[in-house]
Amino acid sequence: MGAGFRRNHGKLRTGLEGSVVPHSMILRQPGSVTLNSVETESPESHLKQRLERREARIAVLGLGYVGLPLALALNQRGFPVLGVDPDPIRLQALEQGRSYVEAVESAQLRRVQSDTRWQLQSDLDPTFEAEVFLLCLPTPLGRANTPDLGILRQAAEKIAAQLKPGNLVILESTTWPGTTATVLQPILEQNSGYRAGQDFFLAYSPERSDPGNPNYHLCNTPRIVAGLDPASSALAVQLYQSFCDQVVPVSSLAVAELAKLYENTYRAVNIALVNEMAMLCHKMGLDAWQVLDAAHSKPFGIQAFYPGPGVGGHCIAIDPLYLQWSAQEHGFLAGLMSRAVEINRGMPLYVCGRAKSLLADMDGEPADKEVLLLGVAYKADVADAREAPAVEILQRLRGMGYPVRYHDPLIPKLDLEGESLVSQPLTETNLKRASLVLLLTAHASFDLPEILRHSRFLLDTRGACRHLQPDPERVILL
Ligand SMILES: NC(=O)c1ccc[n+]([C@@H]2O[C@H](COP(=O)([O-])OP(=O)(O)OC[C@H]3O[C@@H](n4cnc5c(N)ncnc54)[C@H](O)[C@@H]3O)[C@@H](O)[C@H]2O)c1
Repeated sequence: MGAGFRRNHGKLRTGLEGSVVPHSMILRQPGSVTLNSVETESPESHLKQRLERREARIAVLGLGYVGLPLALALNQRGFPVLGVDPDPIRLQALEQGRSYVEAVESAQLRRVQSDTRWQLQSDLDPTFEAEVFLLCLPTPLGRANTPDLGILRQAAEKIAAQLKPGNLVILESTTWPGTTATVLQPILEQNSGYRAGQDFFLAYSPERSDPGNPNYHLCNTPRIVAGLDPASSALAVQLYQSFCDQVVPVSSLAVAELAKLYENTYRAVNIALVNEMAMLCHKMGLDAWQVLDAAHSKPFGIQAFYPGPGVGGHCIAIDPLYLQWSAQEHGFLAGLMSRAVEINRGMPLYVCGRAKSLLADMDGEPADKEVLLLGVAYKADVADAREAPAVEILQRLRGMGYPVRYHDPLIPKLDLEGESLVSQPLTETNLKRASLVLLLTAHASFDLPEILRHSRFLLDTRGACRHLQPDPERVILL
């Protein structure tokens, strides 16, 4: 990026507007440009220094599982941060110091409440004069299970309206390779009149967090970073080095985008394999968990994956479909990935089949046989039911005529289409009145011996009870 000035929409843009640089702070550098006797530095070295001094003003768009811990980490390192989220419920929780993601403690939110370098808004506020924009926005599936980048596009238009030369824009959302350069960049350029790599900096850095993981978090998970050009890359690397132990620069935006999709597709494929193994073991009359424990004793060449009722969340349930779509766009049939998605998506139906055959052996009509789902979050110890297989299982079992209730200490309310269910207390009475207890998510807080003691029949889809020597007549593993 040059240090020059650019005429835009008939208006002279200096490249330093909005970045609040007192003349005393402007360093003299070779190649710097003089305007009205004021010597200015290049936009790259200007932002570099503001990042070094932790003065660069950073807007984080999307305060969810990804954006909220990021915004707080940056604020903790001393940066002025504007957190932007249009969700009034989330914004109110933050303003009241209540966290809604596991990676953030409410106490942390209460501490920043009085910090003048911490601001929250429902929309990008131009008076904040952001110099760095971090996009942590949802990238869901649309109709026909294809990528829906509508939220990202709209946000890019808003950023473009405030973009100034020398600003840095970084996308963190998971998306298909090419998104930053072919979707984000044109929107930013067309709506601002500035050119990426010339007037502003552009980078991609995927968030790789694993919600509920006690060992790895935002700061100690190696961070992949790619820039559109060397200057964008260097600035983005510098930003992430301020709070990440290890930064992994890669050669291009698309490499970084695809690496993230590959990581999650790798998990999806291996989960599908182990799900298929579990179904095969059932057919063979073998205990899948014993087979897996035996195989996992090998110290190399195998990584432990476990079967379950299906995949959920914003990553494993969605990312392989982004990759599959992208492969198709390149005329490539990604057969293994497609099959993995099919297997994982078929697991709720398989679990319902297993439940139905157990229930069919009991006396009475379906309407008299209540099923109690234990755990509806998509994985253990997270308060997130997005894309959770429990929702499909619940709906299918109801469709078969069984009354279904659920208990999940982390999901007090489960929103279905047009209906809201409330978590039932986990009591002896509630366990005993269920014809079948279906363990779908093994939260650490579950008292498994108590659950085993009071359940008439239990189908354990997570193998959580396997070490408790349960009565095989009453406790069935997936
Ligand atoms: N959840 C994870 O564990 C995880 C891990 C790695 C990557 N990712 C990826 O990161 C991205 C974000 O995921 P998430 O889990 O944080 O999603 P999330 O739904 O928890 O958070 C996204 C937030 O963006 C807000 N939002 C929507 N439109 C907005 C706008 N125009 N401006 C500002 N905010 C807006 C929403 O209200 C929401 O609070 C996705 O691409 C996801 O695939 C998620």
